[in-house]
Amino acid sequence: MSQTVRIESVVKEYGNFRAIDNVSLEIKPGEFFTLLGPSGCGKTTLLRMIAGFNTIESGKIYFNDEEINDVPAHKRNVGMVFQNYAIFPHMSVKDNVAYGLKARKIKGAELIKRTEQALKLMQMYEYKDRQPSQLSGGQQQRVALARAIVIHPSVLLMDEPLSNLDAKLRVQMRSSIKKLQKSLNITTIYVTHDQEEALAISDRIAVMNNGRVEQIGEPKEIYMRPANTFVANFIGTSNFLQGEADNGVVTILGKVKIPVKLKEGYKGKVIVSVRPENAALCPVQEGMLKGKVVFATFLGDYINYEIELEDGTSMEINEYTSNVDQHWEAGDLAGIDLNTKRITVFDHETEKSIMVY
Ligand SMILES: Nc1ncnc2c1ncn2[C@@H]1O[C@H](COP(=O)(O)OP(=O)(O)O)[C@@H](O)[C@H]1O
Ligand SMILES: [Mg+2]
Repeated sequence: MSQTVRIESVVKEYGNFRAIDNVSLEIKPGEFFTLLGPSGCGKTTLLRMIAGFNTIESGKIYFNDEEINDVPAHKRNVGMVFQNYAIFPHMSVKDNVAYGLKARKIKGAELIKRTEQALKLMQMYEYKDRQPSQLSGGQQQRVALARAIVIHPSVLLMDEPLSNLDAKLRVQMRSSIKKLQKSLNITTIYVTHDQEEALAISDRIAVMNNGRVEQIGEPKEIYMRPANTFVANFIGTSNFLQGEADNGVVTILGKVKIPVKLKEGYKGKVIVSVRPENAALCPVQEGMLKGKVVFATFLGDYINYEIELEDGTSMEINEYTSNVDQHWEAGDLAGIDLNTKRITVFDHETEKSIMVY
């Protein structure tokens, strides 16, 4: 049965260093929840606290209504998959998968049935008698997944399980992990530093930075409505332009005026973020942003332009090749047509969003 995982004001310290700084999260039953952030931000540390491998300095963790701070790891009914496969090299595939069942004193027909079920689910049944050394990286990771789910965990924890695989396999495995998770309906906490992977696989994402949570939301929300410049920059690509806000109008480079719904009465210096797909190049017109094409990179389905604006700011713009007839070249002077409904405005000081949606 899937569980709620509730994390309340949790702190982890290594000596004087705060690796997890007052984090609170609530993960719903059956949810695919991802901790996303740059290397060193505390993802593994938090996951290990949930698993029971790390002490908790303060705060509480609950599985449903049970506080588990002092419940030892082997009694938390958690399945875990790590980055470096971590399957036993001297055991056959089926013995690897059966291991967790034996540790739980499950024997005989039940042991065989559940082991075979898990292997079939991960499409590894035909490899059951092989040794790990006779498997590819992707197959080893499937065995690790089978081993994690065979115990029918109430929470599944995965720490960068795909990062040792090549790019194509990573994309295949992430969709099989997502399908598996949905069919088993296990509450899952997944760790990655790869923003595209997080967007593809998650129901919700917590973006972490320096041991803190910057934003929690569905992939679309995090991408379209970033809470601050860190999130806007870490998820996808954002161009940051300097601006001035007054009375619901944002002025960029002293001339382009965009009406935006900002917090009531907001006035002052702002940072405007524009995604590369939310601007288009066009012939120069009066009152429009303009810039020089510095570099054009043809990428098949789209062209990536590096543009230098009048004030020297560099900007990236992507145009789908199927949408446009005119292709621009280095040296061209072009107008920049912003999709003003898709910009995000941040306070210059706090770098927090001041948008009202
Ligand atoms: N056992 C440890 N002792 C001291 N510092 C640690 C230990 N484990 C992790 N850290 C530090 O805590 C921070 C977070 O680490 P970690 O959770 O592994 O980050 P992530 O998984 O996001 O890359 C890092 O600065 C790391 O150096
Ligand atoms: Mg890590």
